[in-house]
Amino acid sequence: GLRKKEVNVLCLGLDNSGKTTIINQLKPSNTQAQEIVPTIGFNIEKFKSSSLSFTVFDMSGQSRYRNLWEHYYKESHAIIFVIDSGDKLRMVVAKEELDTLLKHEDISSKKLPVLFFANKMDLQDAMSSVKVSQMLCLDNIKDKPWHICASNAIKGEGLQEGLDWLHDHIK
Ligand code: GTP
Ligand code: MG
Repeated sequence: GLRKKEVNVLCLGLDNSGKTTIINQLKPSNTQAQEIVPTIGFNIEKFKSSSLSFTVFDMSGQSRYRNLWEHYYKESHAIIFVIDSGDKLRMVVAKEELDTLLKHEDISSKKLPVLFFANKMDLQDAMSSVKVSQMLCLDNIKDKPWHICASNAIKGEGLQEGLDWLHDHIK
């Protein structure tokens, strides 16, 4: 049959936002980790989904490792940016990291799709995806396709919607 198109996806966001949990859910169930631990540096995960063969760089969001992110911008075809919707205190930090990312020369020049997960929507005090999108000023992103999905990575809710959107926007 047809060979699947290879795409590199960079998964970014603050520590504890749920990046590894999301990526783990997207993998085939027989390769899923039973326990998720904070990522050290980064992990590379591969999985296939309909017409695409994904290589995901699951980066650590801890501040001491965030300087690693930029080394992978050049080779990325899409970005998944994960936000903990319950973490109101650090929403400004998430915005700072997003703004730094979007301003980077290896990103600002590219029209790559950016998928946001407003994760942990199950938390009682979680902000809505609309609210998260306002806090991050996503409407200011004019030169790239972007999309935000509310998600619950533990239950796997909202993830397929995001993946479907990525499928439609990866060139
Ligand atoms: P770093 O690797 O440190 O950057 O963190 P990360 O973004 O990969 O977060 P990780 O996937 O390790 O998840 C952090 C914690 O949040 C874990 O205890 C997860 O079980 C929990 N978590 C992830 N997604 C959700 C969610 O949708 N809802 C709730 N309630 N908890 C979640
Ligand atoms: Mg992680």
